[in-house]
Amino acid sequence: MATQMNLKRLESKVAIVTGGAQGIGRAISNRLAAEGAAVAIADIQTDAADKVAAELRASGARSIAVKLDVTSFDSANAAAARVERELGPLDILINNAGWDELKPFVATTPEFWDRVIAINYRGVLNCCRAIVPRMQARGAGGKIVSIASDAGRVGSTGEAVYAGCKAAIIGFSKTLAREVARNAINVNVVCPGPTETALLKSAMAGREGVLAAMAKGIPLRRLGQPEDLAGAVAFFASSDADYATGQVISVSGGLTMAG
Ligand SMILES: NC(=O)c1ccc[n+]([C@@H]2O[C@H](COP(=O)([O-])OP(=O)(O)OC[C@H]3O[C@@H](n4cnc5c(N)ncnc54)[C@H](O)[C@@H]3O)[C@@H](O)[C@H]2O)c1
Repeated sequence: MATQMNLKRLESKVAIVTGGAQGIGRAISNRLAAEGAAVAIADIQTDAADKVAAELRASGARSIAVKLDVTSFDSANAAAARVERELGPLDILINNAGWDELKPFVATTPEFWDRVIAINYRGVLNCCRAIVPRMQARGAGGKIVSIASDAGRVGSTGEAVYAGCKAAIIGFSKTLAREVARNAINVNVVCPGPTETALLKSAMAGREGVLAAMAKGIPLRRLGQPEDLAGAVAFFASSDADYATGQVISVSGGLTMAG
């Protein structure tokens, strides 16, 4: 007998995806919506977020675009309140917004560190601090999935501060996972390897040869596509992952296999 698959694992769930307007966040938003979730596309790029939300609505999903700057706690709190007003109580937080520019650490400045840390690390803190208490108060559990990077597990030349932030997300997530386990809130991390998005293109501008060589070194012989990440995120966002928390998975074509 064929196994029964629930293709709408996220029916009646409400999700917010930070940085959902493009790239990996957009692919995650599409996937969560396809699995039945109502999805808030939360981004600083409001026009692009509006477009993604409109596409999702056209496909039959419930979706809104929300203006969010993850570097601000007030913005995170306001975005969470608006999503809960318009879509219902939040079940799923996907911390996906991120940013970097490749340069050797000795060429970076304190101002650059502040920006990288504000977006990549404080952004996760702001969104978790705004949304976890709402999940706790409601008492219906929750799922938090943060997009870190293999840079945070094994390092990445030219990305010292970013890699530090991504490693910090891993340590933070494992700790938060312990603290909120009693609330049935699961906290997990997905680490992409090099994935073809606007971020990768701008980071590697003028170094396309390096990218091609990198693709050859990946066991699965290609760079990632945003859609490659979406399945792992949807798994951690679903009840299939009810017994998994504080975990880190790399989706990188096998580029890194560190334990
Ligand atoms: N592309 C890769 O190779 C790669 C590899 C490892 C990890 N990642 C991580 O994956 C995530 C998504 O990256 P991507 O490649 O899709 O990048 P991207 O640049 O294509 O998309 C990032 C999105 O985040 C939004 N964003 C940026 N700053 C924000 C802020 N302050 N508040 C709200 N939204 C903001 C942008 O507007 C954009 O829509 C990031 O966390 C990134 O660090 C990407």
